[in-house]
Amino acid sequence: MAEKTITARVFRMDPAVDEESRYQEYRVPFEEGMSAMDVLDYIYQNLDGTLAYYDHAGCSLGICARCNCKVNGKATLFCQYLVSGDLTIDPISPSKVLKDLVCERKRENP
Ligand code: FES
Repeated sequence: MAEKTITARVFRMDPAVDEESRYQEYRVPFEEGMSAMDVLDYIYQNLDGTLAYYDHAGCSLGICARCNCKVNGKATLFCQYLVSGDLTIDPISPSKVLKDLVCERKRENP
């Protein structure tokens, strides 16, 4: 039986070298119960190690909010968004992108 895959369209931009953002598509094996964080981990570990995002160094429990983002146009958390099919992943603040899905953040302890 063929393995089910999904397509992840991922926002890419490195302001140090890119004048404009773009989307890059990746085919990722689908597993029931996988999160958007699992999709990004798969891409990073198997397809493209240049992708920048907040990984499991965060809590993975929906508490720290370090992984906030947009999936299919709606604000969410990578670690809490359950994948059911193809998805488009954007940074939470495209105008504040440091690289790809990583955005400039306010200092928590000024
Ligand atoms: S990693 Fe902490 S909320 Fe997602």
